[in-house]
Amino acid sequence: MATKTSLSAVFLFSFIAILFAIPIQAQVPTNQTFKFINQGELGGGIVEYHATYRVIQTNSHTFYTHPFGLCFYNTTPDSYILAIRAGVPKDEVRWVWDANRNHPVREKATLSLGREGNLVLGEADGTVVWQTNTANKGVTGIKLLGNGNLVLHDKNGRFIWQSFDYPTDTLLLGQSVTTNGRNKLVSRKSDTDGSDGPYSIVLDHTGFTMYLNDTGQRLIYGGWTGTDYGSTVTFDFDIMDGFDDGIAYELVLNVNQDINAPPPPPPQSHRHLLQVRPIGNAHQINLNKLNYNATYTFLRLGSDGNLKAYTYYDKVRNMKWEESFAFFSSYFIRECALPSKCGSYGYCSRGMCVGCPSPKGLLGWSKGCAAPKLGQCKSGAKASYYKVADVEHFLSPYLDGGDGPMKVGECRAKCDKDCKCLGFFYREDTSKCVLAPLLGTLIKDVNTSVGYIKYSK
Ligand SMILES: *[C@@H]1O[C@H](CO)[C@@H](O)[C@H](O)[C@H]1NC(C)=O
Ligand SMILES: *[C@@H]1O[C@H](CO)[C@@H](O)[C@H](O)[C@H]1NC(C)=O
Ligand SMILES: *[C@@H]1O[C@H](CO)[C@@H](O)[C@H](O)[C@H]1NC(C)=O
Ligand SMILES: *[C@@H]1O[C@H](CO)[C@@H](O)[C@H](O)[C@H]1NC(C)=O
Repeated sequence: MATKTSLSAVFLFSFIAILFAIPIQAQVPTNQTFKFINQGELGGGIVEYHATYRVIQTNSHTFYTHPFGLCFYNTTPDSYILAIRAGVPKDEVRWVWDANRNHPVREKATLSLGREGNLVLGEADGTVVWQTNTANKGVTGIKLLGNGNLVLHDKNGRFIWQSFDYPTDTLLLGQSVTTNGRNKLVSRKSDTDGSDGPYSIVLDHTGFTMYLNDTGQRLIYGGWTGTDYGSTVTFDFDIMDGFDDGIAYELVLNVNQDINAPPPPPPQSHRHLLQVRPIGNAHQINLNKLNYNATYTFLRLGSDGNLKAYTYYDKVRNMKWEESFAFFSSYFIRECALPSKCGSYGYCSRGMCVGCPSPKGLLGWSKGCAAPKLGQCKSGAKASYYKVADVEHFLSPYLDGGDGPMKVGECRAKCDKDCKCLGFFYREDTSKCVLAPLLGTLIKDVNTSVGYIKYSK
């Protein structure tokens, strides 16, 4: 009796399973499916990163909604990134979203959307390189929207997948980072290498923070730290009254727009907020005010680590991308605080690289200026240091001036002991100590802090 019951249960179970295995979801209509092969003519014009590109077009889709378009681009031969471009080639094209930045594809790679609704980027041999993982989820179509968002939608127009959920180094207007999904932007390595670089800006409970990670350790160098911004930060603009009866546009980061969420606490007055402009209220961070149309603007973490916005400038006949905000700039955070400002090493004063610190004193700065090469390090052995007066390290403001109070000798002993320490910065007024695992740009800071740079005599 027991056996019979379980047998029929198994039968019933299998029956239900089979029933559900049959796709009951709506599918992509046959005339909306496509397979685009990456071959043929390459486009020209003024193109960011000196890239060449192929416009993606099929019988059913243009993938172009002014001024955005879907393309393959390459900066090195036979190494293509599926991307969204902004702007037109006769003005200037910028790349605002990458699908496969760490895994470029080759000639004859394919981009396809099948009836099941999965958007797939594959190599010519069929190897899948990237996909939206949206098979059998009710996708009925694909669209590139007028805000630059590539979406896969269902029959009610609901987005099943959107490129806005996967920012790389760029936020378009209306695009967010969120702790419930992708919570960061990551820089590209360089103009020619689009893979993940060392800079990131990360949203978490400690703020919206810029990090440099090329020593295996995350070093804070900027952002809006010390404030819990909740779950979401969105790049956007507000329209305001401008000059001469015109309107002005305020570029902003909107914070946690979920109206049910409690407002974040007011920002702490860290010393690093050496910015001239007001930083906005608890729900908004003001970036910059523009007296031209900001409809097409994006915010990007560049390969140099600076966070900048660019706006398609409509005051001239040929539109092009105008820098409309820079985090490290004369009007926001002092430029010398950008670690890469003076290349790998330099002395920076009022936004200019004015010297190359050396054991013999300040020499003229050039791109070749580099931190001293160190011999073998023995932890604890007394190292040699040369002194650089009146400088602070980019980390100092974010570490509340450093550890301590302690004596300068203790700070030095800590650096002696730490083979990763390339120098230390000591504030005589507060007796605080910062160890530097990376030197970069030293910020001129009159008579408060002194740098001691490790070197081999
Ligand atoms: C696709 O087919 C449907 C009917 O099956 C038709 O209504 C629609 O216009 C077609 N779309 C295109 C782009 O041909
Ligand atoms: C820093 O970069 C290294 C090498 O790319 C990586 O292994 C490590 O996880 C990164 N650390 C953090 C905290 O992101
Ligand atoms: C700003 O530009 C957008 C896109 O070109 C346009 O639709 C809008 O009307 C412009 N706004 C103003 C106030 O000119
Ligand atoms: C720095 O030096 C100037 C004079 O050169 C002096 O007026 C100022 O008080 C000093 N600041 C500190 C923090 O010692």
